[in-house]
Amino acid sequence: MGAKKSKFTFIDLFAGIGGFHLALHRLGGKCVFVNEFNKCAKETYKNYFKKVDPTLFIDDERESFFWKDIKQITRTDTNEPKYIWKRNIGEIIPNFDILCAGFPCQPFSQVGKQKGFDDVRGTMFNDIERIVRARKPKVIFLENVRNIVSHNDNKTLVVILDKLDGAGYDVRPERGFNWEILRASAFGLPTHRPRFYLVAFRKDLRKANSFRFPSSTTPRGVTLRQIFGKRWPAIIGSTIRVGGRKSPFRKNPDGSWFRDRRNWDTYLVNNKPHVLTVEEAKTMMGFPSNFIFPGNLSYSQKMKQLGNSVAVSVIEAIAKNIIKTIHG
Ligand SMILES: C[S@@+](CC[C@H](N)C(=O)[O-])C[C@H]1O[C@@H](n2cnc3c(N)ncnc32)[C@H](O)[C@@H]1O
Repeated sequence: MGAKKSKFTFIDLFAGIGGFHLALHRLGGKCVFVNEFNKCAKETYKNYFKKVDPTLFIDDERESFFWKDIKQITRTDTNEPKYIWKRNIGEIIPNFDILCAGFPCQPFSQVGKQKGFDDVRGTMFNDIERIVRARKPKVIFLENVRNIVSHNDNKTLVVILDKLDGAGYDVRPERGFNWEILRASAFGLPTHRPRFYLVAFRKDLRKANSFRFPSSTTPRGVTLRQIFGKRWPAIIGSTIRVGGRKSPFRKNPDGSWFRDRRNWDTYLVNNKPHVLTVEEAKTMMGFPSNFIFPGNLSYSQKMKQLGNSVAVSVIEAIAKNIIKTIHG
């Protein structure tokens, strides 16, 4: 970024390998705080973003908070009074414009046990809420699995919206106003990956009515063949997952291969089963070719990190509209 003045500031919570950061940096944003407690994800994050924005990593003390459990900052696991946790957050996290968080989705995902707010990972929203209350950013930008909408008879989403409303943000329960389900394949990526996105503006800004989710750039979807070439099948790729890799293709009695739901990372390429490479998975998620993983990470760790990540092109398209709305 050099000395160029940034257009806006943001923080990157539950940052994984930095999908939000990539997108918002491209739009002229400056990240002022990161948080991610997984050691391998941290390595990948730092490996790339240290070059993108070295200033983020020059203060050792502040950086040490980047890689801590978020609860050490928000204190949601203690009974401390409000003024203590607010002061703690205020001392560690600087002021910023946009809060970005693809918070842990296991409790809400269809493959999870559907415990939601009863599951400690489901309560990560409480950490977000405290940071919002302590710092009052202009905008909150969240990503999660689409199942969060129907989870617990819609009660989970209602709780989230109520909490944001109580914290001073414009929210409405109906789809399309400040939350939407968007598919990565509708934004130029060859993978379905339907995800829930929420954008909430602080009420006093009176901006919520001007915001619109972006229209699809590729409404009919993008196939693997369009991106990787004619030897690939003309289908939209499956959503990259965190676990259960390399499920074998099976054969029909006539000897032809067949693919089922489990084969999310294997495709018939040139008529042979082909397991996605890390480079292919990166392309499917919208990561640029110069996004390099640290050499010591295994194939499984890299694929897990990509499976956990946001679809960068979708984040960028939404963020563009957020910034237009803030500055409009
Ligand atoms: C769904 S992933 C988000 C990935 C990220 N948005 C990206 O683009 O790569 C959720 C992340 O939250 C992190 N996480 C979960 N609990 C945490 C905690 N208590 N403190 C800090 N990070 C946490 C996980 O390690 C995981 O990387």
